Amino acid sequence: MAIQWFPGHMHLTRNALAERAKSVDVVIEMVDARLPGSSANPMLRELLQQKPSLKVLNKSDLADPERTRAWQQWYEQKDNTRAIALDSHHTAPARALIDACLALRPTRGSMDKPMRVLICGIPNVGKSTLINTMVGKRAAKAANEPGVTRTEQRYTLQDGFYLFDTPGVLWPRIIVAQSGYNLAAAGSIGRNAFDDELVALELLAYLQQHYRPELHHRYAITDEADALQTLPDHELLQAIGRKRGALLPGGRINTQKAAELVLQDFRSATLGRITLETPEEFENWLLTGEKL
Ligand code: G4P
Repeated sequence: MAIQWFPGHMHLTRNALAERAKSVDVVIEMVDARLPGSSANPMLRELLQQKPSLKVLNKSDLADPERTRAWQQWYEQKDNTRAIALDSHHTAPARALIDACLALRPTRGSMDKPMRVLICGIPNVGKSTLINTMVGKRAAKAANEPGVTRTEQRYTLQDGFYLFDTPGVLWPRIIVAQSGYNLAAAGSIGRNAFDDELVALELLAYLQQHYRPELHHRYAITDEADALQTLPDHELLQAIGRKRGALLPGGRINTQKAAELVLQDFRSATLGRITLETPEEFENWLLTGEKL
């Protein structure tokens, strides 16, 4: 069963974004480095077309560094696009953004030719954390200025460099089933939209294929190590539940609790630095995956 997630008001955000995009020099899209394809919004691609684009792979502290590099390279093959990895421990994120935007638009960024940058990202990707780190006390709400909507904010990163926050909320748009599972695993869509067990089983299937040492290490399922190779995902979930004491009265495994533990271990990177999709896998899902 695929995850369906169609929050309302997307058309309002779309219109506001299209309007704002006309007057900015660079569009920054923040994505989650653990799922860079699935956490991007395909609507932006349609709307922005040739606009210079900076992809920020955020939460890179939680992601697989090798795969983060692969995604950066994949993005940078595209015209007018740069990609940087960030996380909330970065000491000078504003400098990193400013430099990357200047590389895309070298003639802007002065008082007479200011750089206007729009920052977008699906909820929970870390946009507020980044903005708060960058602007601190210099945060400038621009609600009274003409052309700046009530829901939009403008921040000054340095003289001649203005950052506009997305008008409205850019919900993820799930177009293939696997993206839904990955967004749910990362905690990027509402809890009521999915079933923890189903998402944990999908996650375990992927981890068994790509991150088996991390699984072995975290759950210390040594006696079943050989079987782990071929263990059906639901049996693995049971084994994890047994190991972690997720039990119901009478000693049966509480699979809901076990699923929650697995998801929590992934989200907190207790399982290790894991990325749920490579550029090749993501492209392949778009071509062959179950379309929603
Ligand atoms: P948003 O504005 O895009 O919706 O996201 P927000 O900044 O609110 O961040 C969502 C959650 O992600 C927060 O955790 C935040 O601390 C965490 N986060 C943001 N950037 C990073 C990062 O680079 N690395 C890691 N590991 N986490 C990051 P939370 O649990 O919802 O809130 P809190 O308990 O941290 O306050």
